[in-house]
Amino acid sequence: MSAPTASTVPLLRAQNLAKRFGGLMAVADISFDLYGGEILAVIGPNGAGKTTLLNLLSGLYRPTTGQLQLMGRDVTNLSMEERCHLGLGRAFQIVRPFPEMTVLENVTVGALFGKSGTSLGTARAQAWELLEFTGLSAHADKPAHELTLLQDKRLEVARALATQPKVLLLDEVMAGLRPGESQEAVELVRRVQAGGVSVLFIEHIMPVVRDLAHRVVVMDAGRVLAQGTYAQVVREPRVIEAYLGSEMSSEVGVEAEVASGAGH
Ligand SMILES: Nc1ncnc2c1ncn2[C@@H]1O[C@H](COP(=O)(O)OP(=O)(O)O)[C@@H](O)[C@H]1O
Ligand SMILES: [Mg+2]
Repeated sequence: MSAPTASTVPLLRAQNLAKRFGGLMAVADISFDLYGGEILAVIGPNGAGKTTLLNLLSGLYRPTTGQLQLMGRDVTNLSMEERCHLGLGRAFQIVRPFPEMTVLENVTVGALFGKSGTSLGTARAQAWELLEFTGLSAHADKPAHELTLLQDKRLEVARALATQPKVLLLDEVMAGLRPGESQEAVELVRRVQAGGVSVLFIEHIMPVVRDLAHRVVVMDAGRVLAQGTYAQVVREPRVIEAYLGSEMSSEVGVEAEVASGAGH
């Protein structure tokens, strides 16, 4: 067997991750790989354990059992800050910038946080670039609390990118956006990936998953129900069953497929 090369070692490897809250296994057994340049979606019904999984990946929670590797290195017991320094960045489902600070200051904080030894001047220059990248430069001097929801989400992405991640973790960044706005957010994620950052995102808007994700991990009750391309996973009988009756079923065409499959 040949030694693994940079291209075959996954950026992120989750092995049998589990997280228990009292009597509840919120994440029971999750394994997946994320490769360089990939956009991976994590989907699943409410309560499936998606946010808990993201918290295990970012280091907010320590797993009850299981392992996490970043570029071949075991990071299971590293803090959120240590993981961030090694290249794991995240934007939170609930947007929480520093509300009284300006947009530029918020992103500058991210740049200072990501790399130790960065000067304030360098951090501010990086922040400016990221405001241009995320379309926020016209709002640089506004206090963060004056931003619209879409601008807030962009700020979250800019703050996470300021830490210079190799992997960006996103939890439902399209939540609450209007269709035109989610299209803009989709374009932003594409630009992030084109800039060399792998993306793992949680999303319940199925057209967004279909358009963005190279691969999809479907979770249910803390486990991986299926993984593969979007086209593969929406055809899996287990996935169809898990989504039956949910608001997502019509979006993934589940009812039509079940109906056409039932008669044969
Ligand atoms: N901090 C916590 N303490 C106790 N239970 C939790 C906690 N966080 C999540 N849970 C529970 O774990 C399960 C998975 O939650 P979550 O990861 O938020 O799912 P999802 O993001 O897929 O909707 C749910 O039953 C939820 O109530
Ligand atoms: Mg969630």
